[in-house]
Amino acid sequence: MTTRRVFLGEVAGAMAVGAVGLRANAGGLGRELAGFSGTPGELARDEAYWVPIQRAFTVDRSIVNLNNGGCSPAPLVAQEAQKRHLDFMNQNPPPFALWQVQEKRAEGVRARLARQFAVSAEELALTRNASEGLQILQFGFDLEAGDEVLCTTHDYPRMLNTFKQRERREGIRLVQMQLAVPAEDEDEVVRLYESAITDRTRLILVSHVVFLTGQILPVKKIAALGRKHGIPVLVDGAHALAHFDFTLGELECDFYATSLHKWLFAPIGTGLLYVRKERIKDVWPLMAASEAEDDDIRKFEQIGTHPEAQTLAIAESLTLHQAIGAANKEARLAYLRDRWADRLLADDRVRLYTSQKPGFACCLATFGVDGMDMGALRGLLWNQHRILTTTVGFPTADGDVSGIRVSPSVYTTLEEIDRFCEVVEEWIASS
Ligand SMILES: Cc1ncc(COP(=O)(O)O)c(C=O)c1O
Repeated sequence: MTTRRVFLGEVAGAMAVGAVGLRANAGGLGRELAGFSGTPGELARDEAYWVPIQRAFTVDRSIVNLNNGGCSPAPLVAQEAQKRHLDFMNQNPPPFALWQVQEKRAEGVRARLARQFAVSAEELALTRNASEGLQILQFGFDLEAGDEVLCTTHDYPRMLNTFKQRERREGIRLVQMQLAVPAEDEDEVVRLYESAITDRTRLILVSHVVFLTGQILPVKKIAALGRKHGIPVLVDGAHALAHFDFTLGELECDFYATSLHKWLFAPIGTGLLYVRKERIKDVWPLMAASEAEDDDIRKFEQIGTHPEAQTLAIAESLTLHQAIGAANKEARLAYLRDRWADRLLADDRVRLYTSQKPGFACCLATFGVDGMDMGALRGLLWNQHRILTTTVGFPTADGDVSGIRVSPSVYTTLEEIDRFCEVVEEWIASS
């Protein structure tokens, strides 16, 4: 029960937190951006619109970060919020600060995320990352020896290893299909999944965005396919949420896990697990919860003592995301991709393993150069030019390929993109 003293303590804490919070303010940015008008496509090309957004981050501009897909830096407003929430926890007895104040405030974060992504707050668990949400789902269904789980060779290694461990431990069978690169026919992708379904198929894992190529998969259709066959579809949305403009509600899927420290720009160590209300009871939590919580989404958050600072600071990143506008963000990220991709594609030795068609990819894209060592290019970019990218290797119908995955962000400048292109062009020319 909340005593008067506890309540007053909460109010005092809230006031202290609020006062410091005026230094970096996503609302101020919102007012600045509201002065601009135009369609998302027009704003994507309006550099003045992106200047205050670039300034909202504290990134070291002596480095060009083109691996924002790995995880994103948080904007100043979220960094400051996280620090003051940590200070509050340490300045007060943590059992009070954490459990009486901050855990309760996290409900506000849950409610705002639910509203933004058009689902009920009672369907969202706040996790530490996509891996946690996905493993809750991947371990949360009872499977027997011989049961099959369907996925592709392009799913994330940790998620594949999770099922491979169940193979070794419980004798299940992981069936991996080969996706086209790029896959620009949604119905063909759905047919690929359907063709692999057998009477032993118990689960389907599908990446909303393939981490290797940025390929967006038709998860709404695959979730519908799963429903038709009575098979739960677990969506790995690590790279999708807040990257391009969609809501969880419109996907009509039952199980979806994502990171928030990638494209929502929330502090590192934040993620979200969505489970449709009527399916919550069907999934065992990773850490045990009481039977009374069977239907409660919070059973997935029973992980023992942990900080709430990063969870609370999600709210600031969400406000920034709203100020930018999801559609504007999507258009800008695709514009930045096309700026480097179109330029490099002028050389006919360059291969883009990512679709540039709307709806099939957004910011994350991968390229290779015929006959050239992409690892060497990555090393050159970083060691000599302090431009960070990542190399990826993956199977295609024509054999294994390796490429460099490029992922700028809303704070990336056109000059940074152009410097990257110049280094790649000079490297190709000199090889
Ligand atoms: C497709 C995919 N799934 C899951 C993950 C795991 O995300 P996290 O490390 O945030 O848990 C990643 C990370 O990049 C990913 O790309």
